[in-house]
Amino acid sequence: MVDEIVRVAIVGGGRTGAPVLEALLSVPYIHVVGVADRDSDSPGAVMAREHGIFYTEHADVLGAKADDIDLIVEVSGDPSVKPALKDAFRSQGNNDTIIVHDLVARLLMSLANRTDRLVPSLHPHDRGVG
Ligand SMILES: NC(=O)c1ccc[n+]([C@@H]2O[C@H](COP(=O)([O-])OP(=O)(O)OC[C@H]3O[C@@H](n4cnc5c(N)ncnc54)[C@H](O)[C@@H]3O)[C@@H](O)[C@H]2O)c1
Repeated sequence: MVDEIVRVAIVGGGRTGAPVLEALLSVPYIHVVGVADRDSDSPGAVMAREHGIFYTEHADVLGAKADDIDLIVEVSGDPSVKPALKDAFRSQGNNDTIIVHDLVARLLMSLANRTDRLVPSLHPHDRGVG
């Protein structure tokens, strides 16, 4: 039996996205499909290219590949990204790809690092999933 692989993409390779990318790259059961960041010098964009991972400046390029992605970690801070991704999913008839937002990403980081507190938010006043 082939081991199950989770296919993940990241939008936003900044202060939140880059450490998430590093964590995702550290385990064999995650395949990082791609990273989108409009700044090609962002830490996540640089890390993606260093690891030979697909990189694009445009989140909609990942949206168009949604059939090949199980989870999109959306940590860009741009509120227009999530609705655009959802539109892309709809136009492809995709009901499967899940958008993971900042709080869930921080929760996973905290569990992975076995911290006894949640990894702090860089934007504590930003609440909700929008
Ligand atoms: N950065 C902010 O001002 C801000 C404000 C409120 C909430 N947040 C939340 O914090 C998390 C990210 O914050 P951070 O501190 O890591 O920010 P950051 O600025 O360090 O990183 C965000 C990255 O996303 C990229 N980006 C922004 N808009 C994009 C777009 N439309 N397409 C592709 N790439 C884009 C930027 O170039 C940057 O590298 C997100 O989950 C966001 O919801 C951020």
